[in-house]
Amino acid sequence: MSPLPASEPWRIVASDFLAAAAPGFELPAPTTVEIAFAGRSNVGKSSLINSLVERKNLVRTSSKPGSTRQINLYEARARDGAVFHLVDLPGYGFTVRSRAETQSWKDLIESYMKRRVTLAAVVLLVDVRRGVEDDDRELAEFVASLTGVARPGGREGIELLLVATKLDKVPRSARAAALSKVARATGITRPLGFSAVTAEGRPEIWRALRRAAAVGAMEVASDASDASDVAASDASNVASADVPAK
Ligand code: GTP
Ligand code: MG
Repeated sequence: MSPLPASEPWRIVASDFLAAAAPGFELPAPTTVEIAFAGRSNVGKSSLINSLVERKNLVRTSSKPGSTRQINLYEARARDGAVFHLVDLPGYGFTVRSRAETQSWKDLIESYMKRRVTLAAVVLLVDVRRGVEDDDRELAEFVASLTGVARPGGREGIELLLVATKLDKVPRSARAAALSKVARATGITRPLGFSAVTAEGRPEIWRALRRAAAVGAMEVASDASDASDVAASDASNVASADVPAK
């Protein structure tokens, strides 16, 4: 009898810190498909990465904004062998920084996105209670502007995935409405809800990321029955969106 395939093949079984880059320093050459996490300071980028790799402290998190001050690169390997590089970007909108410092982080993030030919997706995090603000919109427009032009030899486009996080801070009964509100206000793309406290939304985020990275589409498809079970029993992390998916 052949062994049954492992369930949930997208789950991460190994992860590690690979490298960091501050302004003026280079990351190692890109080698595998990359996913970057962007958003305001304190929104929960580092916490989302920890949750995606199912580790408590791979990435440093802090209740003080401005905790991630460089580009940090991590490697994650899934049960089915797929390997991803996850990139934690410094947050923006942190007012304590000087103007010059703010500009240097912006340059760092933009030059990373422009030049990183293996970058497949940018996850833009917003707080489900705050929604999309001007800085976020600017970042989303920047990502869209890179499609097909600025990265000779690179992947065709960079997928933008919007994640509305800290879902646990909104009562369960109000979540679908909160997500729909974020969706309507953005006009960017439909958000996926997530909580680093409960890990709600994690399978859906991996599914979207693997699709964007064109990795393991079959495994994800064979997993879809689990997803619809979850969706049927608890759709509270999915926007009841009138906004079409991108
Ligand atoms: P910077 O590195 O400063 O840009 O912040 P960041 O976006 O990496 O945020 P980080 O993951 O460090 O989280 C900031 C704070 O929010 C921490 O106190 C986290 O514990 C908290 N936090 C993150 N995600 C969630 C969540 O889903 N729910 C709740 N309740 N708290 C969260
Ligand atoms: Mg951080």
